[in-house]
Amino acid sequence: MSAKTLFIANWKMNKTCAEAKDFCAQFLKKYSPSPAGESDIGIAPPYTLLSTLYEAVADKTGILIGSQNVHWLDNGAHTGEISPLMIKEVGAKFAIIGHSERRQFYGETNRGVAKRAANAIKHGLLAIVCVGETREEFESGSTEKIVEAQLNGSLEGLSPDQTVNLVIAYEPVWAIGTGLAATPDIALKVHLFIRKFLVKTFGENYGVRIPILYGGSTTPDNVSSLLSQENINGALVGGASLQPDVFWTLIEKGRAAKVN
Ligand code: PGA
Repeated sequence: MSAKTLFIANWKMNKTCAEAKDFCAQFLKKYSPSPAGESDIGIAPPYTLLSTLYEAVADKTGILIGSQNVHWLDNGAHTGEISPLMIKEVGAKFAIIGHSERRQFYGETNRGVAKRAANAIKHGLLAIVCVGETREEFESGSTEKIVEAQLNGSLEGLSPDQTVNLVIAYEPVWAIGTGLAATPDIALKVHLFIRKFLVKTFGENYGVRIPILYGGSTTPDNVSSLLSQENINGALVGGASLQPDVFWTLIEKGRAAKVN
Protein backbone atom coordinates (compact mmCIF):
# COMPACT_ATOMS: atom_id res chain seq x y z
CA MET A 1 0.00 0.00 0.00
CA SER A 2 1.31 3.45 -0.82
CA ALA A 3 0.73 6.87 0.70
CA LYS A 4 -2.39 8.77 -0.26
CA THR A 5 -2.43 11.94 -2.29
CA LEU A 6 -3.23 15.25 -0.56
CA PHE A 7 -3.55 18.86 -1.71
CA ILE A 8 -3.50 21.16 1.30
CA ALA A 9 -4.11 24.91 1.07
CA ASN A 10 -2.28 27.00 3.64
CA TRP A 11 -3.95 30.39 3.60
CA LYS A 12 -1.58 31.81 6.25
CA MET A 13 -2.78 35.24 7.48
CA ASN A 14 -5.07 35.90 4.53
CA LYS A 15 -8.79 36.37 3.91
CA THR A 16 -11.66 37.91 5.78
CA CYS A 17 -14.91 36.06 6.28
CA ALA A 18 -16.48 37.68 3.23
CA GLU A 19 -13.47 36.78 1.08
CA ALA A 20 -13.53 33.19 2.33
CA LYS A 21 -17.23 32.83 1.47
CA ASP A 22 -16.55 34.16 -1.98
CA PHE A 23 -13.69 31.69 -2.44
CA CYS A 24 -15.91 28.78 -1.38
CA ALA A 25 -18.75 29.74 -3.71
CA GLN A 26 -16.37 29.86 -6.68
CA PHE A 27 -14.41 26.77 -5.66
CA LEU A 28 -17.56 24.66 -5.33
CA LYS A 29 -18.54 25.47 -8.90
CA LYS A 30 -15.36 23.70 -10.03
CA TYR A 31 -15.01 21.03 -7.37
CA SER A 32 -15.36 17.35 -8.06
CA PRO A 33 -14.41 14.57 -5.66
CA SER A 34 -11.23 12.60 -6.11
CA PRO A 35 -11.62 9.75 -8.61
CA ALA A 36 -10.01 7.52 -5.98
CA GLY A 37 -12.96 8.22 -3.71
CA GLU A 38 -10.90 9.51 -0.76
CA SER A 39 -10.85 13.11 0.42
CA ASP A 40 -7.69 14.55 -1.07
CA ILE A 41 -8.23 18.30 -0.53
CA GLY A 42 -7.74 20.30 2.64
CA ILE A 43 -7.84 23.99 3.50
CA ALA A 44 -6.12 25.57 6.50
CA PRO A 45 -7.55 29.08 6.90
CA PRO A 46 -7.01 31.45 9.83
CA TYR A 47 -8.82 30.13 12.95
CA THR A 48 -11.62 32.68 12.60
CA LEU A 49 -12.68 31.08 9.32
CA LEU A 50 -12.82 27.43 10.37
CA SER A 51 -16.58 27.44 11.05
CA THR A 52 -17.26 29.47 7.93
CA LEU A 53 -15.37 26.96 5.82
CA TYR A 54 -16.96 24.05 7.60
CA GLU A 55 -20.41 25.31 6.70
CA ALA A 56 -19.49 26.50 3.23
CA VAL A 57 -17.53 23.50 1.95
CA ALA A 58 -16.54 20.77 4.38
CA ASP A 59 -20.05 19.86 5.41
CA LYS A 60 -21.15 19.41 1.77
CA THR A 61 -18.08 17.73 0.25
CA GLY A 62 -15.14 15.64 1.29
CA ILE A 63 -12.98 18.74 1.64
CA LEU A 64 -11.10 18.72 4.92
CA ILE A 65 -10.52 21.82 6.98
CA GLY A 66 -7.70 22.30 9.43
CA SER A 67 -5.69 24.81 11.41
CA GLN A 68 -2.23 26.30 10.92
CA ASN A 69 -1.06 25.34 14.42
CA VAL A 70 -2.34 23.62 17.56
CA HIS A 71 -1.23 23.46 21.18
CA TRP A 72 0.18 20.52 23.14
CA LEU A 73 -2.32 21.09 25.95
CA ASP A 74 -6.10 21.02 25.85
CA ASN A 75 -6.66 24.25 27.79
CA GLY A 76 -4.98 26.62 30.23
CA ALA A 77 -3.14 29.91 30.56
CA HIS A 78 -1.59 30.11 27.07
CA THR A 79 -2.46 33.47 25.59
CA GLY A 80 -2.72 33.41 21.82
CA GLU A 81 -2.68 29.62 21.48
CA ILE A 82 -5.38 27.21 20.33
CA SER A 83 -6.36 23.77 21.60
CA PRO A 84 -7.20 20.68 19.55
CA LEU A 85 -10.57 20.51 21.31
CA MET A 86 -11.45 23.99 20.08
CA ILE A 87 -10.59 23.38 16.45
CA LYS A 88 -12.22 19.95 16.40
CA GLU A 89 -15.44 21.41 17.71
CA VAL A 90 -15.68 23.60 14.61
CA GLY A 91 -14.90 20.78 12.19
CA ALA A 92 -11.10 20.68 11.86
CA LYS A 93 -9.65 17.37 10.78
CA PHE A 94 -5.97 18.31 10.59
CA ALA A 95 -3.39 20.77 11.88
CA ILE A 96 -0.25 22.08 10.20
CA ILE A 97 2.57 21.98 12.74
CA GLY A 98 6.09 23.44 12.66
CA HIS A 99 5.68 25.50 9.49
CA SER A 100 8.95 27.28 8.73
CA GLU A 101 7.33 30.67 9.34
CA ARG A 102 6.54 29.51 12.89
CA ARG A 103 10.05 28.12 13.29
CA GLN A 104 11.77 31.21 11.83
CA PHE A 105 9.72 34.08 13.23
CA TYR A 106 7.92 32.72 16.30
CA GLY A 107 10.52 30.58 18.01
CA GLU A 108 8.97 27.18 17.30
CA THR A 109 11.36 24.35 18.22
CA ASN A 110 11.51 20.68 17.28
CA ARG A 111 10.57 19.87 20.86
CA GLY A 112 7.49 22.08 20.63
CA VAL A 113 6.55 20.56 17.28
CA ALA A 114 6.82 17.04 18.73
CA LYS A 115 4.54 17.94 21.64
CA ARG A 116 2.01 19.68 19.40
CA ALA A 117 1.96 16.78 16.93
CA ALA A 118 1.51 14.23 19.72
CA ASN A 119 -1.49 16.09 21.13
CA ALA A 120 -3.06 16.61 17.70
CA ILE A 121 -2.74 12.90 16.97
CA LYS A 122 -4.05 11.98 20.42
CA HIS A 123 -7.21 13.89 19.52
CA GLY A 124 -7.55 12.13 16.17
CA LEU A 125 -6.36 15.04 14.05
CA LEU A 126 -4.04 14.54 11.12
CA ALA A 127 -0.74 16.22 12.06
CA ILE A 128 1.03 17.79 9.06
CA VAL A 129 4.59 18.25 10.32
CA CYS A 130 6.75 20.61 8.23
CA VAL A 131 10.49 20.37 7.74
CA GLY A 132 12.90 22.11 5.38
CA GLU A 133 16.27 23.81 5.11
CA THR A 134 17.17 27.48 4.61
CA ARG A 135 18.97 28.81 1.55
CA GLU A 136 22.35 28.85 3.34
CA GLU A 137 21.85 25.28 4.50
CA PHE A 138 20.87 24.24 0.97
CA GLU A 139 23.88 25.98 -0.55
CA SER A 140 26.28 24.46 1.94
CA GLY A 141 25.00 20.97 1.10
CA SER A 142 23.53 20.30 4.54
CA THR A 143 19.90 19.71 3.51
CA GLU A 144 19.81 16.06 4.58
CA LYS A 145 21.55 16.72 7.88
CA ILE A 146 19.08 19.52 8.72
CA VAL A 147 16.00 17.60 7.62
CA GLU A 148 17.11 14.54 9.56
CA ALA A 149 17.61 16.58 12.74
CA GLN A 150 14.18 18.19 12.29
CA LEU A 151 12.53 14.80 11.74
CA ASN A 152 14.29 13.25 14.72
CA GLY A 153 13.26 16.08 17.02
CA SER A 154 9.80 16.76 15.64
CA LEU A 155 8.62 13.14 15.60
CA GLU A 156 10.20 12.13 18.89
CA GLY A 157 8.03 9.85 20.96
CA LEU A 158 5.55 8.92 18.19
CA SER A 159 4.80 5.22 18.00
CA PRO A 160 4.40 3.47 14.63
CA ASP A 161 0.62 3.11 14.99
CA GLN A 162 0.26 6.85 15.67
CA THR A 163 1.71 7.55 12.22
CA VAL A 164 -1.59 6.68 10.55
CA ASN A 165 -2.42 10.28 11.49
CA LEU A 166 0.91 11.73 10.38
CA VAL A 167 1.77 13.64 7.21
CA ILE A 168 5.18 15.16 6.49
CA ALA A 169 5.57 18.32 4.40
CA TYR A 170 8.99 19.01 2.92
CA GLU A 171 9.15 22.75 2.42
CA PRO A 172 12.55 24.18 1.53
CA VAL A 173 12.51 27.63 3.15
CA TRP A 174 14.21 29.16 0.09
CA ALA A 175 11.28 28.04 -2.08
CA ILE A 176 8.44 29.37 0.08
CA GLY A 177 6.75 32.40 -1.40
CA THR A 178 9.75 33.11 -3.63
CA GLY A 179 8.46 31.79 -6.95
CA LEU A 180 11.53 29.54 -6.96
CA ALA A 181 10.19 26.02 -6.47
CA ALA A 182 12.61 23.15 -5.98
CA THR A 183 13.19 21.25 -9.20
CA PRO A 184 11.61 17.79 -9.29
CA ASP A 185 15.12 16.30 -8.99
CA ILE A 186 15.98 18.27 -5.88
CA ALA A 187 12.60 17.59 -4.27
CA LEU A 188 12.66 13.89 -5.15
CA LYS A 189 16.08 13.40 -3.58
CA VAL A 190 14.88 14.86 -0.27
CA HIS A 191 11.53 13.04 -0.40
CA LEU A 192 13.40 9.75 -0.87
CA PHE A 193 15.63 10.60 2.06
CA ILE A 194 12.52 11.33 4.19
CA ARG A 195 10.86 8.10 3.05
CA LYS A 196 13.92 6.09 4.11
CA PHE A 197 13.94 7.87 7.47
CA LEU A 198 10.25 7.06 8.03
CA VAL A 199 10.67 3.41 7.05
CA LYS A 200 13.73 3.07 9.31
CA THR A 201 12.00 4.78 12.24
CA PHE A 202 8.48 3.36 12.04
CA GLY A 203 8.98 0.16 10.05
CA GLU A 204 8.15 -0.68 6.45
CA ASN A 205 4.38 -1.13 6.95
CA TYR A 206 3.83 2.26 8.48
CA GLY A 207 6.71 4.14 6.87
CA VAL A 208 5.57 3.67 3.29
CA ARG A 209 2.05 4.95 4.04
CA ILE A 210 2.92 8.33 5.50
CA PRO A 211 2.18 10.98 2.85
CA ILE A 212 5.13 13.29 2.09
CA LEU A 213 3.92 16.58 0.60
CA TYR A 214 6.06 19.11 -1.23
CA GLY A 215 5.63 22.80 -0.41
CA GLY A 216 7.28 25.93 -1.79
CA SER A 217 6.04 27.95 -4.78
CA THR A 218 3.90 25.11 -6.12
CA THR A 219 1.78 26.32 -9.05
CA PRO A 220 -0.40 24.78 -11.75
CA ASP A 221 2.68 25.02 -14.01
CA ASN A 222 5.04 22.94 -11.91
CA VAL A 223 2.69 20.62 -10.03
CA SER A 224 2.66 17.89 -12.72
CA SER A 225 6.42 17.52 -12.85
CA LEU A 226 6.64 17.40 -9.05
CA LEU A 227 3.74 15.03 -8.41
CA SER A 228 4.66 12.61 -11.15
CA GLN A 229 7.56 11.56 -8.87
CA GLU A 230 6.77 8.48 -6.83
CA ASN A 231 7.57 9.77 -3.36
CA ILE A 232 6.01 13.19 -3.80
CA ASN A 233 2.53 12.39 -2.54
CA GLY A 234 0.92 15.79 -2.72
CA ALA A 235 1.39 19.50 -2.15
CA LEU A 236 1.15 22.03 0.66
CA VAL A 237 0.23 25.17 -1.22
CA GLY A 238 0.45 28.79 -0.06
CA GLY A 239 0.12 31.56 -2.65
CA ALA A 240 -1.48 29.39 -5.35
CA SER A 241 -4.25 28.30 -2.97
CA LEU A 242 -5.70 31.77 -2.48
CA GLN A 243 -7.55 31.97 -5.78
CA PRO A 244 -10.18 29.29 -6.39
CA ASP A 245 -9.43 28.87 -10.11
CA VAL A 246 -5.70 28.60 -9.62
CA PHE A 247 -6.00 26.15 -6.71
CA TRP A 248 -8.51 24.04 -8.61
CA THR A 249 -6.31 23.85 -11.72
CA LEU A 250 -3.40 22.84 -9.53
CA ILE A 251 -5.48 20.03 -8.00
CA GLU A 252 -6.70 18.75 -11.36
CA LYS A 253 -3.18 18.68 -12.79
CA GLY A 254 -1.81 17.11 -9.63
CA ARG A 255 -4.47 14.39 -9.64
CA ALA A 256 -3.75 13.64 -13.30
CA ALA A 257 0.01 13.42 -12.61
CA LYS A 258 -0.63 10.86 -9.87
CA VAL A 259 -2.79 8.68 -12.11
CA ASN A 260 -0.43 8.72 -15.10
P1 PGA B 1 3.99 29.04 -1.13
O1 PGA B 1 3.87 28.61 0.42
O2 PGA B 1 3.24 28.00 -1.92
O3 PGA B 1 3.35 30.42 -1.20
O4 PGA B 1 5.43 29.06 -1.46
C1 PGA B 1 3.90 27.26 0.80
C2 PGA B 1 3.83 27.15 2.29
O5 PGA B 1 4.41 27.98 2.99
O6 PGA B 1 3.18 26.23 2.83
